Amino acid sequence: MQRAASFSACLSALGLFVAALACDGSDSAGARPAGERLYAEKGCVSCHGRAGEGSFLGPALRNLSTHWQREELAKFFLDPSGYVKGQPRLAELMKAYRMPMTPIVASEADRLVLADYVLGLK
Ligand code: HEC
Repeated sequence: MQRAASFSACLSALGLFVAALACDGSDSAGARPAGERLYAEKGCVSCHGRAGEGSFLGPALRNLSTHWQREELAKFFLDPSGYVKGQPRLAELMKAYRMPMTPIVASEADRLVLADYVLGLK
């Protein structure tokens, strides 16, 4: 009897776990894949790495929310070099790389999705 009870408790815990996984799955079917897809399609990968870990062509994209708001980032993508001029931190960062970041050709909606994606990278 004791056993059966703990077995069924176990089963319902497993049910919750599966439900939690399913929720996570449906979340990632929303904003995340679109951001991930744009990040790959727009060539960010080639300078910032597959998961934003950085490379010799671009800095790691980590904890960006300490420096950026999403709307500001979406603007930065349009004209990175122009933006760097007014930002001592970015100008300093720029010195470590051979090429400036290329402007990103994308709609405002897509740039916002990209901004959300990189702001979420840890
Ligand atoms: C040609 C290489 C290159 C490409 C392609 C590129 N970047 Fe960059 N990125 C850089 C470099 C270099 C910097 C640092 C200085 C600067 O702003 O130019 C930078 C800076 C950034 C920053 C600011 C980092 C900080 O610490 O504040 C963000 C965010 C960023 N890039 C995101 C992206 C995204 C998203 C894409 C794709 C849409 C992308 N970059 C494409 C090279 C690149």
